[in-house]
Amino acid sequence: MLTKRQKEILDFVESYSQKKGYSPSFEEIRKRLKLASVSTIHFHISKLKEGGFLGKTENKARAIIVASKDPMVKIPFLGTIAAGEPIEAIRQNEFIAVSKNILPSTGNLYALRVIGDSMVDENIKNGDVVLVKQQDTAENGERVVALIDNHEATLKKFYQERGHIRLQPANKTFEPIIIRKDRDIKIQGVVLDVIRNLDSNVDVETQQSPQQIQSAKVFDEVPINSVLHGDTISLLRRFPDKSVDLVLADPPYNLSKGNNINFQNKGLKGFGGKWNKVMEDWDNLPFVDYMNFTYEWLKEVKRVLKPTGSVWVFGTYHNIGLINTIFQILEVEIINEVVWYKRNAFPNLAGRRLTASHETLLWAHAGNGKRNYYFDYHASKEFSEDSDRLKERGRQMRTVWDIPNNKEREELRFGKHPTQKPLRVCRRIVKISSKPGDVVLAPFAGVGSECVAAKELGRRYIGIELEKEYVDIAKKRLSATNEIKTLFN
Ligand SMILES: C[S@@+](CC[C@H](N)C(=O)[O-])C[C@H]1O[C@@H](n2cnc3c(N)ncnc32)[C@H](O)[C@@H]1O
Repeated sequence: MLTKRQKEILDFVESYSQKKGYSPSFEEIRKRLKLASVSTIHFHISKLKEGGFLGKTENKARAIIVASKDPMVKIPFLGTIAAGEPIEAIRQNEFIAVSKNILPSTGNLYALRVIGDSMVDENIKNGDVVLVKQQDTAENGERVVALIDNHEATLKKFYQERGHIRLQPANKTFEPIIIRKDRDIKIQGVVLDVIRNLDSNVDVETQQSPQQIQSAKVFDEVPINSVLHGDTISLLRRFPDKSVDLVLADPPYNLSKGNNINFQNKGLKGFGGKWNKVMEDWDNLPFVDYMNFTYEWLKEVKRVLKPTGSVWVFGTYHNIGLINTIFQILEVEIINEVVWYKRNAFPNLAGRRLTASHETLLWAHAGNGKRNYYFDYHASKEFSEDSDRLKERGRQMRTVWDIPNNKEREELRFGKHPTQKPLRVCRRIVKISSKPGDVVLAPFAGVGSECVAAKELGRRYIGIELEKEYVDIAKKRLSATNEIKTLFN
């Protein structure tokens, strides 16, 4: 299945190749489609290859090979469908292109993007696009789009039972919806196929500009003291400009790329959590995708930051160079680079490298040439913590922080995250770069460490996290968190 933009690229590559006998360069495609960056083209070409529409690239300049002449069919893309909410129509002329080979020979089809995770056990995840065949009847067990009482549209499994219809979620944490005779239900279609990953950032941009998304759905007020479940870029686009004082971002480091190790933690003392988790989808993007992703979320961060605000980003060599470069592209000035030294780092098991024992943090502001960002110099100078052997009270804080990576028992009480940050690091950042009452945003909230530190220190917080499992843990942690008045002596 292709997006409109990918179809345009495919058409151009095909006609160009027919005319000239060789394929266009990325730069020629970029110019023809009037796109800002070649990396966007790379992204689309890689999607076209994955889908088998273009052949594998040989290692030469003009090497995009048109592999498939599959006739493509335009399918109307009607919008989003969420449990309990009406279908939210987007632009009338949206469509996606689908290879004719995978479609039934008869019937009207449409596509919807699914919001929510009530169907995860059927492998339909938040953000997926489903291909639906329009029809008003269904067999038991089929996945249907149903309209209840003429206003609630939902995607569920259909069961006609004695005296009622049961709409069954494919997720144990959701209750079935029972429709008795006094209620109205209309079947609007049956799901034929699920298309993953159509929700890439680049695709969103080609279908609806960020401005369109923003003007359609912008939050009246930022959702203070909550952890939002969803994709950070889509949600940040709904934030008003200049609405956040501090961003504390612990993004996926893209650690898994090119690394097929699947390290299952069986019995290593002191190492909790599922280590194989860091090899999950969100941490395993092709480099170009990761670059686009990083650019998009940092662009939104810059937009939502107040001129007095600043952003901290955690990283390692896998991603921090890219973050640094994108800050420069976006004209976000770096204030400091901090090395978080982890005295208790785990030794390198293979003995083929040095023991990785630090992470790097970049601190930056978006003051457009003016350095008005908030910094509590006094607090930084007076700061001391027994565990930090490099910081003496009354002396300026340096850019190397000695903070053990272990977590207190309380930090793990409601569940763990494979890359959970210790509260000691988060508190230090919140303390020196925000004031009580400020809005602290954690765009990759995980199990909520940054939000917990903010709440403890009397700041307001907003977390955003893609995985429901982590959102739930973060919420539990936050409701058990109280403000602490004397964290720093
Ligand atoms: C490095 S972890 C953050 C851990 C966090 N600092 C903590 O202490 O719990 C990165 C998190 O980003 C989440 N994530 C990945 N892609 C995301 C996206 N597009 N939007 C929101 N969250 C995302 C992952 O699910 C993961 O939990």
